[in-house]
Amino acid sequence: WHDEVLSIVVVGASGDLAKKKTYPSLLKLYEENLLPKELTIYGYARSSKTHEGLRQHLYPHLIKTGTSEHIVNSFLERCFYYSGKTYGDESAYTSMIGDLAKFESTSESTVANRLFYLAVPPNVFGESGMVIKKIGMATTGWTRLVIEKPFGHDLDSCNELLKTLSDDFDEECLYRIDHYLGKEVVQNMILFRFSNPIWEPIWNRKSIESVTITFKENIDTNGRGGYFDKFGIIRDILQNHLLQVLTLFAMEPPENDDADSIRDAKVEVLKNMEIISLDDCLLGQYDGYSDDSTIENKDTNCPTYAALRCWIHTPRWEGVPFILQAGKALDEKLCEVRATFKPAKTLASVQSVSKKIEPSELVLRLQPNPAIELHNNTKIPGLSTSPMKSKMTMSYEDIPDLSNPDAYTRLLLSVMRGDQGSFVRDDELRRSWEIFTPLLHAIDDTGVRPLPYKPTSKGPEERVKWMEKMSKATSPLQ
Ligand code: BG6
Repeated sequence: WHDEVLSIVVVGASGDLAKKKTYPSLLKLYEENLLPKELTIYGYARSSKTHEGLRQHLYPHLIKTGTSEHIVNSFLERCFYYSGKTYGDESAYTSMIGDLAKFESTSESTVANRLFYLAVPPNVFGESGMVIKKIGMATTGWTRLVIEKPFGHDLDSCNELLKTLSDDFDEECLYRIDHYLGKEVVQNMILFRFSNPIWEPIWNRKSIESVTITFKENIDTNGRGGYFDKFGIIRDILQNHLLQVLTLFAMEPPENDDADSIRDAKVEVLKNMEIISLDDCLLGQYDGYSDDSTIENKDTNCPTYAALRCWIHTPRWEGVPFILQAGKALDEKLCEVRATFKPAKTLASVQSVSKKIEPSELVLRLQPNPAIELHNNTKIPGLSTSPMKSKMTMSYEDIPDLSNPDAYTRLLLSVMRGDQGSFVRDDELRRSWEIFTPLLHAIDDTGVRPLPYKPTSKGPEERVKWMEKMSKATSPLQ
């Protein structure tokens, strides 16, 4: 950061995301001395508050992170607050940007960078973007905009949203956050796969029977039912978080390790993915979902659980089912990728032992207890010759003095460094909606009823048979 000064503007500073994620992540970077010494953070929102009011509002959330009071206070001294009538209120922005420019001009540094974090709903990206473009752009350094999902509701609304910002900003300025890309195990996927030569020969249809990517939450919509009911679990989790993880798992080796090579490789997976159909989908809704007072339509058919089967038509993956499943109010919190290997052909004698040989599996567990596990068969020690399942585990919790920063902290650092590799590019986003939109429209238009399931269960009971049927590899010609 030598010779650079940084101004950060958090638009939507009084909201939930800002207090829970944006400011705590900035605090962490500040604590680790990863931000320039010359730093100011301007909060902007519609509610009226003083600078001190914002600091008091943020304090409990910052102190909860475990950072010392001294550092929290020194961070808060750099935080200021401005309010306006709307998110595109030009006169309010003018006074904020005026103060920001004054701060920059008092610095001896020659480069002044500006980061705008839009912690607001996408329907106001346009108005904020317009005024930032008009009066907020940096003159001597970079201007970057961080934006948050939902990036649309379907392909058309995504295209509209993309257009709103692309009229004013180049793709290089835009950082679309999918916070799953900032999780440790996800960040490890490229290195783990491509730096260990043992994986490449088996990372394909010859060895892998199926790949299942699972997201489970043991909490329900938690008072967010009003929001959730407009989106449903497919738009909330599968179309973005799980699809991103899938593309990293399934991609061909990128040509290079730069952001665009990685994203090119991910886009290739998406281009080769079949559009998902309603026949390849199982939907559920937990009992009592519509009791949430924020849900208006008590007869809602919004899915809170979904399992989908996807196909990737490449020589590597032809015929291998990729199952994505996600649900709320289930029995546990879990997110993992599980590659199930085909049965061994060479062990006829072992197959004949009375106990069934389980398939080998590679599990990448994102949360909780992040780990990489290889599930194998080994002989029960002692006089027995029967097999038992064993695990080779790399658990992050066993690594001493491990620092495992929040996904947002990593991603914000990448924004500062100008590394877009862990952010969603426009073509990636567009294609992901192309894959999901026919399914989403079919669900919306046919009013298909999701299957009921009990909160704290594993999901609809029908899922067991469905999984069994769907996770069988098929020949590419079938
Ligand atoms: C968000 C979804 O994107 O991810 C939430 O909107 C979900 O519904 C959350 O709870 C899960 O994130 P994490 O990091 O807690 O797994």
